[in-house]
Amino acid sequence: MNAQLTPTPATGDLDAFWMPFTANRQFKANPRMLARAEGMYYWTVDGREILDGVAGLWCVNAGHGRREITDAVSKQLATMEFAPAFQMGHPIAFELANRLAKVAPPGLDRIFFTNSGSESVDTALKIAIAYHRARGAGQRIRFIGREKGYHGVGFGGMSVGGIVNNRKFFAASMVPGVDHLPHTLDIEHNSFSRGLPQWGAHLADELERLIALHDASTIAAVIVEPISGSAGVILPPIGYLKRLREICDKHDILLIFDEVITGFGRIGKPFASQAFDVTPDLMTTAKGLTNGAIPMGAVFAHRKVYDAFMQGPDNAIELFHGYTYSAHPAACAAALATLDVYVREGLLTRAASLAPEWENAVHSLRGLPHVQDVRNYGLIGAVELEPRAGKAGTRGFEVFLKCFERGVMVRQTGDTIALSPPLIIESKQIARIIETLGAVIREVA
Ligand SMILES: Cc1ncc(COP(=O)(O)O)c(C=O)c1O
Repeated sequence: MNAQLTPTPATGDLDAFWMPFTANRQFKANPRMLARAEGMYYWTVDGREILDGVAGLWCVNAGHGRREITDAVSKQLATMEFAPAFQMGHPIAFELANRLAKVAPPGLDRIFFTNSGSESVDTALKIAIAYHRARGAGQRIRFIGREKGYHGVGFGGMSVGGIVNNRKFFAASMVPGVDHLPHTLDIEHNSFSRGLPQWGAHLADELERLIALHDASTIAAVIVEPISGSAGVILPPIGYLKRLREICDKHDILLIFDEVITGFGRIGKPFASQAFDVTPDLMTTAKGLTNGAIPMGAVFAHRKVYDAFMQGPDNAIELFHGYTYSAHPAACAAALATLDVYVREGLLTRAASLAPEWENAVHSLRGLPHVQDVRNYGLIGAVELEPRAGKAGTRGFEVFLKCFERGVMVRQTGDTIALSPPLIIESKQIARIIETLGAVIREVA
C-alpha cells in the first residue's frame, strides 16, 4: 500500500503542535510522519514501509491494525460512548477488572483504572500513602525510588523517578520525602550479559541503608521498574528483586512494581513479576493493556491493600481519587478485545519462546564499532554505544535516524538503542532489524 494517505502539512503548518519529548525544531525541519500501520509495519505519509522494532512506544504488543480491537471500540462507541465511573458503573468495566485479575500475579486482584502510565504511578503512590493511613500509620509518607528510574511525568512519578533531564527543571516542585536507590546498570561488571546480569544483587541492600537513615516508620513504599526501558534498558541482577521484596516485608513497606513496559507479555509471562517470581503489593500498567489503541492504565492492588480501605461507614468514599475517564467504556472495550487477542494467540508467553533467538540476534552486534554493551531479556534488547567526546547522544540519534531512513524503527535514549518489537514478530523480521541496525552502526562514525 503506497498511496499517500495523509497529506504532509507544509512546513509552516507544523508549528502549532508542541511535540512531547521531541526536539521540536529539529523534527519540524525534517519531519518523520507516519500515516498507516498494520502487523509489524508502519507506512510513512509518502508510502515508505517501516518495520516497527519498538511496538510503537512499547505498547502495540499484538501488532498493528488489529480489527478485533477496532471493531470492539467502534461497537462500544456506538452503544455508549461514555459513562461516569464515580458512583455509577457499567458492566464491561467490571468484566475487564475480573479478566485482568485472572492473569494478574497472585493476590493482585483489585484493579483501579487510569488513562496512562503516569496516572497509574501517581495513583499507586497515593494508594500507598492512604493505605498506611487507613491502618493507623499516617506517618509513613516517604517513597524510595531509584536512580535512572522512569515513572512517567506526573509530579509523583517524576519525583520517584531518577532521570536527570526529567527532574532538573522542576527541582523546586518535587514531592518531598523521596530518596533513591542506586541504579543497577554496571557495564564494568556486567557487559554483554545474556539475560539477567550476575553481579549486583547486593545493590538491593542499599534499601536497608536508606531505611536506617529515615526509619522504616516513615516510609510508605519502594517503587522500581522490574526492567527499566526509558533510561536505556536496565536489568535487575539475579536475586535483586527478591532481596527488595524481603527487605520491604521485614519493614512493612509496600513494594510497587512499575510494569508499564514489562506488562502484557513483553518478557514471556503476562507480567515481569511472574517471570521473576516476586510479587509486589501494587503494580502499575498501561501501554500493552489496550495494545496502544486507546489510552488506558490500570493499577493492580493486592487484596490486602484494598481490604484495608473497606472499613468505616458504608456510605463513605474509601479513596478520594479517580479520573473522569477511569474505566472509559471505549478503553474497556479495547482492553477486553486486546486480552482476547493476547490469549487466543498465546502472546502473553510468546516472548519466552522467541527469547533465545532474539538473544543470539541482538548479541551478534557485539564487536561492532563503538558497541560497549548489549543487553537483553524476553523480547527486549539494547545496544549501548560509546558516546562521542563532548557530544553525548549524537551517535545514538544518528543511528536512530539512519535506521528509520532504511525502514526500521528503533528507539534511542542518549547513546542507547532500545528494541522492543511487537510480540508477533517472525524470524525474518528479527533478522531484518538486526541487519539494518548492524549496517548502520558500522557506518556511523
Ligand atoms: C515504566 C514506565 N512507567 C511509566 C511510564 C509513563 O507512561 P505514560 O507515558 O503512559 O504516562 C512509562 C512510559 O514509558 C514507563 O516506561
